[in-house]
Amino acid sequence: MNVQAQISAAAIPFAVPASRWDEAVAAKLSPAELLLYRSNLLGSDLTVTNFGGGNTSAKLSETDPLTGEETEVLWVKGSGGDIGSMKLDGFATLYQDKLLGLEKHYAGPDDDDKMVGYLPHCTFNLNARAASIDTPLHSLLPFAHVDHVHPDAIIALAASSGGEAATQEIWGGKIGWLPWKRPGYTLGVQLRDYVKANPHVEGVMLAGHGIICWADSAKACYEHTIGLIADAANYLNSKLAGKPAFGGAVTVISSDRAAIAAGLMPRLRGLMTGARRKVGHYSDDAEALEFVNSAEFERLAALGTSCPDHFLRTKIAPLTLDPAKLEDDAYLAQKIADYRDLYAAYYERCKRANSPAMRDANPVVVLVPGVGRITFATDKTTARLAGEFYGNAINVMRGAEAIGDYIALDEQEAFDIEYWLLEEAKLQRMPAPKPLAGRIALVTGGAGGIGAATAARLMADGACVMLADRAADAVDEVRDGFAKQFGKDVVRSVVCDVTDEAQVAEAFAACAREFGGLDILVANAGIASSAPIEETTVELWDRNYDVLAQGYFLTSRSAWPLLKRMKEQGGSSVVFIGSKNAVAAATNASAYASAKAAANHLARCLALEGAPYGIRVNTVNPDAVIKGSRIWDGDWRKERAGAYGIDSGAELEEHYRNRSMLKRDVLPSDIAEAVYFLASDMSAKSTGNMVNVDAGNAQAFTR
Ligand SMILES: NC(=O)c1ccc[n+]([C@@H]2O[C@H](COP(=O)([O-])OP(=O)(O)OC[C@H]3O[C@@H](n4cnc5c(N)ncnc54)[C@H](O)[C@@H]3O)[C@@H](O)[C@H]2O)c1
Ligand SMILES: [Zn+2]
Repeated sequence: MNVQAQISAAAIPFAVPASRWDEAVAAKLSPAELLLYRSNLLGSDLTVTNFGGGNTSAKLSETDPLTGEETEVLWVKGSGGDIGSMKLDGFATLYQDKLLGLEKHYAGPDDDDKMVGYLPHCTFNLNARAASIDTPLHSLLPFAHVDHVHPDAIIALAASSGGEAATQEIWGGKIGWLPWKRPGYTLGVQLRDYVKANPHVEGVMLAGHGIICWADSAKACYEHTIGLIADAANYLNSKLAGKPAFGGAVTVISSDRAAIAAGLMPRLRGLMTGARRKVGHYSDDAEALEFVNSAEFERLAALGTSCPDHFLRTKIAPLTLDPAKLEDDAYLAQKIADYRDLYAAYYERCKRANSPAMRDANPVVVLVPGVGRITFATDKTTARLAGEFYGNAINVMRGAEAIGDYIALDEQEAFDIEYWLLEEAKLQRMPAPKPLAGRIALVTGGAGGIGAATAARLMADGACVMLADRAADAVDEVRDGFAKQFGKDVVRSVVCDVTDEAQVAEAFAACAREFGGLDILVANAGIASSAPIEETTVELWDRNYDVLAQGYFLTSRSAWPLLKRMKEQGGSSVVFIGSKNAVAAATNASAYASAKAAANHLARCLALEGAPYGIRVNTVNPDAVIKGSRIWDGDWRKERAGAYGIDSGAELEEHYRNRSMLKRDVLPSDIAEAVYFLASDMSAKSTGNMVNVDAGNAQAFTR
């Protein structure tokens, strides 16, 4: 069944988790390792918790390094980490008796922030991992093993007007219910008192938030958590069965939705001014389409998200767009401006005397009926995660609406979390962004020596890179290597022959769809050929001009509309990889050298034409980059060696080294460094320039 038929027939069901506990693995583990095993099992299961969400703990007996005596230590997931991927060092360890002793410093809810400051004083064994604000939830409960998670099926109950009744119906009083309270010491106290007053409960639903539950062993605790989520999912599925979600579909899924997204994202990105550059992420998964196409879409989207985890990632509410007006730039500009105004009004309404200054007011989540979900953030991973969190929020709304009315987080509560001084302190501690963070580059010939080195250089400083190359296997291999080195979010590849107009257009569309636009074009795809004039066939002549002249023209032309959008953010940059041979005549290479010269002059023409749009265009002229270049793998090497009457191995490298003024090899990484300079803001005032990277070649001095 296609997606359309599927989502209009019946609501997408909740996934029902099953235990993945393997006793053969568990039997060999120490108590602390068992906690880690349980945490990783829970965290790597997307039906249990979203990225970074939830925390787990165990109260273990340890030898005190000071006294040599046995003491009870709380091992609890530390601040920041993700239980799915954390290691043992991700746990904070604290003296349990000292944690319990902290209560004498607590007089009431106003002390929540103050209590966080006491946590480091309870550190056991000099563990540097900071304890999270959820620590009191674990320390104040008198149970050996405690799990706190935010599964969609549970939050759906926790964020519904029918949630408390459903909790009663599913678990018959075994699971308690606490009204919404922001995480912190007070919630810990309320929870502890609730459990004391209701000694039969085996867990407690935290309204608008998640669940906390416990058991006597790691295995029992894990299975208890999984069982509760499965109960909730099965219950919701029985309510959802047989009817479409959100009042049914009212919009048809657009068959060219990916192309629409590719056209829309750079325009939205260009409108998101006044902050750091954004990277986009597009999804047309079934959840997103089910939601944006539904009858209830506008009403529910306006309510915003519920769970603090979702809300912190996605902002108070998404921006929704009318699919019939996407071509209209004025409409988009107005929508973004309105969103920023609404955000500023929310800030003004809710701010307190000591609130931090207003942060970026641009939308994070943009929803378009028929098309899907687009998210923007200052880096790709954050944009992807924001999208995934909104997907979780959609699941929550679907379940919550099936048993009552969905309840979003109260505005003031949302604000107090977003502008929490502790949250602000966390942001202030974050390292400064890398110079190219938020920049998107497309590198043609990205599978080759200079192209790959350039891509690596740009990624090392925070850029996202689309590698475009006609060599399909090679470009995928290079991409996979970079995904390991820099993370899978920041690199994509596309098969593209720069002589093919349609393929070039598609490569830029892919870049827009995958990352949201373009800031940097590196036109680098190239070949080399050698032949005396009388032996230069029209075919050889055309091949050079097709790749080196027309190819640079086609890539620049397709990049232009994307680059133009970035004027308000400080502009964009095109870097051509020229050649020494573009400025200095070469024997027996007239087709190659004159085509390179054409490209270099094209760069100057484009520098003139691009300036009003903030597009800078500069050229790097390499020479004799032999190591790492595939151009030098083939006939070119033999032909050049032949032209100088030397062997094509070490002698050739030696020849070029000695020919240079500085007597040094030129490496792909040397070219990459020059490209980096011209691509980055370091050269913000330079356009129409050439940089020679050739270890010195007087013939190629520009004059
Ligand atoms: N290596 C040198 O000594 C040297 C000197 C001066 C200029 N250059 C220029 O540097 C650039 C990169 O060269 P390199 O040394 O890294 O060579 P390389 O062969 O290692 O890389 C070139 C890449 O371009 C790709 N390519 C070729 N034709 C293409 C097309 N039509 N469409 C898409 N991709 C295509 C190839 O598949 C290859 O991956 C070229 O423009 C070259 O002319 C190189
Ligand atoms: Zn929580």
